[in-house]
Formats: sequence, structure tokens, C-alpha cells
Amino acid sequence: MIVAIDGPAGSGKSTTARRVAERLGWLYLDTGAMYRAVGLAFREQGLPVTEAAASGLVPGLDVRLEPGPGGTRVALDGDDVTDRIRTPEASRDASRVSALAPVRAAMVALQRRAAHDYVAAHPDGGVVVEGRDIGTVVFPGADVKFFLVADLDARARRRLADDAVGPASPDGPDAVAAALDQVRAELAERDRRDESRDVAPLKAAPDAVTLDTTALTIDQQVESVLDAVRRVR
Ligand code: C5P
Repeated sequence: MIVAIDGPAGSGKSTTARRVAERLGWLYLDTGAMYRAVGLAFREQGLPVTEAAASGLVPGLDVRLEPGPGGTRVALDGDDVTDRIRTPEASRDASRVSALAPVRAAMVALQRRAAHDYVAAHPDGGVVVEGRDIGTVVFPGADVKFFLVADLDARARRRLADDAVGPASPDGPDAVAAALDQVRAELAERDRRDESRDVAPLKAAPDAVTLDTTALTIDQQVESVLDAVRRVR
């Protein structure tokens, strides 16, 4: 069984997808982490964000997601890059390189293979896949599809509360407001780029359940997805 969870940054996808997978004992696939690793490879190699550069780079790249006790670890050519891909700069890089067709083709193939291999080895299990194009492109036949949304302000606040992503603990109300403005602007810019690209833009699949998480708790989000899984099982 495949559960697809898509939506913009900060909509609660990652936490929801990870917890649903934990509750079911299934595989969790964080596809954004893959695009982040590719973005890092472009930056490390000083490549321009072009299709030609992508065609040269991607076939030789080794991007791996390794589920671990503290969450998914991401390896790029054998190096653990988990911490380095969680910066605002890495978010921006990921969004830019993910618009390139050769990058998407390679990552989609990896995602399908990972899910296929897992289900082949765990016939009663399933995969919870999180991203932007999972229900539309990667697994259009997914058994359960969710599209998570939330107000920009709520999403920016969540990002800021996450130390690894937001600017380091701003001091005082003015600094908090300035940091919030910055995160809000970064999220809006990334959404705009993800929604407007030609290949696999961020959008809800026609058969996805749209869930507005602005006023929901994580538990409520997790329960909504688990209910949908129970209904189709
Ligand atoms: O989900 P996360 O914020 O880690 O994703 C980082 C970036 O990777 C997104 O802004 C988006 O541009 C890209 N992405 C994508 N398709 C996916 C997952 C992520 O284009 N399935």
C-alpha cells in the first residue's frame, strides 16, 4: 500500500508522514531530502542550475535515504549529509534544482524503486511517501492521497520554532518579528517556484483529500491519515 502526502513547506507533511509510518511500522520516504542532497551536490561542485549540468551530474550521484532511530539519514556519495541539508540555503537550492527535468527523472526512479523493493520484501507492509508530486506523478495510483495546506503565517511560525531550520533563537520581540518576516518570505518564494515550474509542479491530485492543518494538532493530522488508511485496507 502506498500513502502519498504532498503539500507546501511547513504544512506538517514531514511530521505527519513520519508518525503515520511509525504507527503502521511502514517505510517512510522523505523525497524532499533527496532533492536537498542533489542541491548540495550542485553547490559543492560549483555547477550552474541548468539541464546540461544536471545531465552530467545526476547519473553519477549516489543519493540514499537510510531510515534510522533518530529519523531518516541522508547519504550523498557515501557521506552523511543529514545536517547540512537542513539550512535555509539548502531549501532554496533544493527548490531550484528540483525544477530540472533530469534531476526529477532520476529521483522519481529512485523513489519508485525504493517503494517497490520495500513492498516486495514486506508484502503486508506499505510506504508513506512525502513530497510535492507524489500523488500526481510518482505514484498516481497511490491507495491514499493527502494534500496538506496551512496559512503562510502558521507555516512560518512552525519553521521558526524548528531550530534546525529557522534563524538561531532570535532575541526579543523585534528580532522574532524580523525573523518571522524572513521565513515567511522564503516560504512564499519557494512555494511560488514549486507551484510554477513546468515539470511536476506542486499541486493537489484530483483525488487527494485536502487537509488544512492551520488549526490542527499533529495527533489530529496523524489520525486523519490513519483513518483513511484503515478505510482502504
Ligand atoms: O519537503 P522539503 O521542504 O524538504 O523539499 C525541499 C524542496 O524539494 C521543495 O521546496 C521542492 O522544491 C523539492 N521537492 C520536489 N518534489 C518532491 C519533494 C521536494 O520538488 N517530491
